[in-house]
Amino acid sequence: MSEHEHAAASADESTSEKLVELAKRRGYFFQSSGAYGGVGGFYTFGPQGAALKGNVEDAWRDRFAVAEGNMEIDAPTIMPEPVFEASGHLDGFDDMLVECPDCGESHRADHVVEDNTDYEDAESLPIPEVEEVIAEYELVCPACGAGLAGQAVDSFNLMFATNIGPGDSDPGYMRPETAQGIFVEFPRLKEYARNQLPFGVTQIGRAYRNEISPRRSIIRTREFTQAELEYFIDPEEDEPDLESVEDVEVTLYPASEQNEEDGEEIRTTIGAAVDDGTIASPWVAYFLGVAKPWYDAVGVDMDRFRFRQHLSGERAHYAADCWDAESEIDGNWIEMAGFAYRSDYDLSKHAEHSGDRFTIFKQYDEPKTVERATVDPDMSYLGPEFGGDAQAVVGELEDLAARDRSAFDGDTVEIELEGESHEIPVEKTGFAVAEQTEAGEHIVPHVIEPSFGVDRLVYTVLHHAYREDEVAGEERTYLELDPEVAPTFVGVFPLQNDDELEDAARDIAADLREAGLSVTYDDSGNIGRRYRRQDEVGTPFCVTVDYESIEQDEGGVTVRERDSTDQKRLAIDELPETLSAIRAGDLAFDDLEE
Ligand code: GAP
Repeated sequence: MSEHEHAAASADESTSEKLVELAKRRGYFFQSSGAYGGVGGFYTFGPQGAALKGNVEDAWRDRFAVAEGNMEIDAPTIMPEPVFEASGHLDGFDDMLVECPDCGESHRADHVVEDNTDYEDAESLPIPEVEEVIAEYELVCPACGAGLAGQAVDSFNLMFATNIGPGDSDPGYMRPETAQGIFVEFPRLKEYARNQLPFGVTQIGRAYRNEISPRRSIIRTREFTQAELEYFIDPEEDEPDLESVEDVEVTLYPASEQNEEDGEEIRTTIGAAVDDGTIASPWVAYFLGVAKPWYDAVGVDMDRFRFRQHLSGERAHYAADCWDAESEIDGNWIEMAGFAYRSDYDLSKHAEHSGDRFTIFKQYDEPKTVERATVDPDMSYLGPEFGGDAQAVVGELEDLAARDRSAFDGDTVEIELEGESHEIPVEKTGFAVAEQTEAGEHIVPHVIEPSFGVDRLVYTVLHHAYREDEVAGEERTYLELDPEVAPTFVGVFPLQNDDELEDAARDIAADLREAGLSVTYDDSGNIGRRYRRQDEVGTPFCVTVDYESIEQDEGGVTVRERDSTDQKRLAIDELPETLSAIRAGDLAFDDLEE
């Protein structure tokens, strides 16, 4: 929800348009339900897109779940209403909506303001102020140009509502973030972690937001994929392995710089940014340090990448601090991920609303003798006095004794039950203060949350890989995708439509598949067109089988590299091993001997 776009210096306005067209033509992504006119904010990933997205998700899983030793879960996408009452999404997950009086189109009021004034963070303004800005600047409907001054700006909750089972007595919501599926299961997940902090739980899955104005293809949609890590720590004891990332170089745009008129991005290292306090939380810094090389490895251009700190009014209701990973797209910065310090907000809220235990027992090094205030109420008094609420009164007295023992200093003690206050004689509470020896205490863990949007990352990877050049006097478009994420690694072609060549090419394709490579076989159109097709898809290598391949012993095949279009003749039986080594990064095409 907190996407924040800033104008960046360089701009090639048309790359996105060309990319969206290529994406549709070559099977990356396209608007869903086209046969019925399409529906705003929903996209289908075609065969190439699904494979690229899958590769990105696998790479994320390898780094943030497997390499970090975290657990992965897969929770339902529909959750009952009390979950979102507790999380704050029912009350606080709103965007500002303004409706055009002429054409009836709905718009995000903060976007209308940001797009047409100098305000950079209209999301943080109160609604009446946004209404005033719209009137003062005489802002108009982006769809039809009618004036919006005087139109009411409303709060619009972004969650998709549904009913669980027949009737409407049991409302549910499509989760707006995968995170809640992790938080609500904390009482069980901590058991799997053997009740020991720190531990992390990841989830890759769909999230749903009924965006007022979905836009820019898969950058802002109503159904998208998140890859989230909730990392639970003891804030007093646990420290990240900062040494492992301290030398990672980063471009940071802290809130303090954004607030200055001539504020600038800072180039520094993770270690230095922690030392000088630019990044307050070492845990957030650690995950920024893990994320930066990972983004580099999946193909984000590091010259068009930065971490930007949220301004105070921009932070989500749960976040104590937050940095976004941003990429530059056609002159705008888009948010690809958020790294938030969520403190104990979520676990405390779920404990309060559910009554379950969202704590971890923290063992002391040595048992401690402490003074504890306790109550042992006289139920023969509370029963008749409070009936069915007597147990709730006991709970209130216990809480009060733990929180404020001076409340028991007088003859009576005052408690509140469902908004009403009650006086209870102290002698009936069994209040006492005694020394106890304790082995440990129950603490509510704090949470650090790296939250990645997969769709925006896929878009960035494609956009940053988009290239145009000229080959043999002809214009060519290609995607310079990293072999680790490219949906197809190698295309195999027979030079001509000939049964023998086709059989040999199919055999080679089968051998390469057996070696674990993703292969496409193509025998349609002339060879030049087949190369162009694979260039546009971003396939790093093509193998062409010709008459020499089948007629001569060790005739070999032509292997063509996508970016340079260089060709080499390689032995057929060495192909699987050679291409696998290139895919794994152990060998470079340039170093191959013919
Ligand atoms: N659990 C924290 C959370 O959900 P967020 O900043 O609202 O934080 C995390 O979302 C990421 O999800 C964003 O950085 C973005 O990449 C992605 N995202 C959010 N809304 C989106 C939308 N409408 N369409 C596509 N991706 C979206």
